Amino acid sequence: MAKARVAVLISGGGTNMAALLYAAKRPDSPYEVVLVASNNPDAEGLKLAQAEGVATFAQSHVGLKRVDHDEIMHNHITKAGAAYVVLAGYMRILSESFVEKWDGRMLNIHPSLLPKYTGLHTHQRAIDAGDSVAGCSVHLVTADLDEGPLLGQMEVAVLPNDTADSLAERVKIAEHQLYPRTLADYVSRATDPDYLTSKVREIALAQPEADEVVSH
Ligand code: GAR
Repeated sequence: MAKARVAVLISGGGTNMAALLYAAKRPDSPYEVVLVASNNPDAEGLKLAQAEGVATFAQSHVGLKRVDHDEIMHNHITKAGAAYVVLAGYMRILSESFVEKWDGRMLNIHPSLLPKYTGLHTHQRAIDAGDSVAGCSVHLVTADLDEGPLLGQMEVAVLPNDTADSLAERVKIAEHQLYPRTLADYVSRATDPDYLTSKVREIALAQPEADEVVSH
C-alpha cells in the first residue's frame, strides 16, 4: 500500500522530527516524511532533515500576520503532496483556518499527560504539584490549544531529585518512542478492524431508533 505522505513542522532542535524520520526508514513504515518545515530558519532540525535528503522549507513568522504565515506554510505543505501535518515542537499558535484545513489530519505531541498542564512549563508544573508520574501525549489538533482527541500517551516516572531539565530529557526519550508508533497507527487506521468496526457502529447508531443488541 502507498505510504502516507507526512509534513513535519518544527521550531527548534527537532529531536521528535528525527525520531519520526528514522522510524520512517523501516521498510514496513506506513508513512514517509516528504517535508520538514519551520517558522525558524535557524532551526537545528532543518540541517538534519537536509542531510537525510528530506525537502525542507523555512519561513519566519516575524512581521507576518498569523493567518498569512499559516497560508504560506499550508501552500508549501500541499505542494509537497502531504496528506498529514505532524507538529513536532512547532511553537506557534495556529490560525483557525489552518486548523480547519487539516481537520483530522494534523497531530501534535505535548510534554504532559493531557488534560494536565496544557501550554508551557509542563515539567516544572508537574514537579511543583508533587506528581509521581509525568509523561507525554499525542493528540489531534483542534481549535483549542492542546485539547484535541488523544491518540496516545506514555507515562514517565518523576524521580525525587528531578529538575525540569532532567525530567524533560527523559520525557523526550518517551516522546521519541510514542510519536512514530502513534502516527503509524493513525495513518493505518483505515485498515484496522477495530477502527472500522467502531466507524460502522457510529454510523449505525446514528440511525433513528437504532439500538445495539448482542447477536450470537
Ligand atoms: C518536545 O518536548 C515537545 O513535546 C514540545 O516541544 C519539544 C520539542 O522538542 N512541544 C510542546 O511543548 C508543544 N506544546 P524537539 O524539537 O526536540 O522535538
